[in-house]
Amino acid sequence: MATLLRHLMIAFFSLLVGSFAIAQKQAAILPGEIWPDSDGNHIQAHGGGIIKVQKTYYWYGEQRRKDLDTNFRYVSCYSSKDLTNWKNQGDVIALAKPDTALVNNKWVLERPKVYYNGKTRKFVMYMHIDGALKDSRYNFSYDYARVGVAISDKATGPFKLVKTFRPLDRESRDIGQFIDDDGSAYLIFESRPEKGFYIAKLSDDYLNVEKEICFIKSPLEGGAIVHYKGLYYAVGSGLTGWAPNRNKVATSKSLSGPWSEFVDIAPEKAKTYGSQSTMFVKVVGKKDTTVIFLADIWKPKTQWDSRYLWMPVEIGDGKLWVPEPKPWTLDVKTGTWRYLE
Ligand code: GAL
Repeated sequence: MATLLRHLMIAFFSLLVGSFAIAQKQAAILPGEIWPDSDGNHIQAHGGGIIKVQKTYYWYGEQRRKDLDTNFRYVSCYSSKDLTNWKNQGDVIALAKPDTALVNNKWVLERPKVYYNGKTRKFVMYMHIDGALKDSRYNFSYDYARVGVAISDKATGPFKLVKTFRPLDRESRDIGQFIDDDGSAYLIFESRPEKGFYIAKLSDDYLNVEKEICFIKSPLEGGAIVHYKGLYYAVGSGLTGWAPNRNKVATSKSLSGPWSEFVDIAPEKAKTYGSQSTMFVKVVGKKDTTVIFLADIWKPKTQWDSRYLWMPVEIGDGKLWVPEPKPWTLDVKTGTWRYLE
């Protein structure tokens, strides 16, 4: 009996310690490290996008955990109040092959971005859908070059596919999301034949890509834009697939240009500290504004282990620089950040 009691007590305490470890809060953002969600699992939201609805941030991204059904492609969703501690809200879409024109099962869903439309009260998801077509133009199976659009009544899904199409009738691969301070919503997309990327305005209901605002003739992808103190800063990466390269920035007073030359955002040799741009989050607090550069550190052979490089940038007067990644903390109320001591 005493032994049984002892075993029960050990079991009880290990459960307690276990759940304590799992429920532990993240004190800081650790660039490039494993980032546990509130269940203790590494966050799976690669090539992602973040929106704020009232006081909650939602982070959507490519779900790349190990045990996925290979007949589907998944988008994950996490929620947070402080951009540091994230709760897994489950997969918000499990997409089956959207078009029979995609000839094999190697098709991809990448870089999902979700917008909230205040007029229709719908959440609208854009995603890069790609794969091989019958008369393959490229050998790397990225021939389809379209966006998919899905909608949901709730931030946490489920999202339902509406259609796939080529925005402005152009080939579209990496996509990026930009919402201006006045609430206008834009899609950024890379177009290989044109050797550059587009900034395009979404229609009122966000279901269409309505109007070309600017075409920037520079072969960059992973497009991300932030509007800061009267200037637009556009960042993109070189076209080197999963391998890191020197991400670059250009500025303009207007989204429609003219844009400055593109210059490095990190030391040349660091190749953006091994990461690739995906978007900016601007945190406007009571005391200050922090602009965070969100990037992916890809691990193409073990994608479930791909990491995130989030760093507040040095920004202003046409300069944008990603400082050396080190653990840091953010206060979303004041809008201030500091390195973890
Ligand atoms: C990257 C792109 C990723 C993915 C990858 C495939 O350049 O940003 O989203 O498409 O290429 O090689």
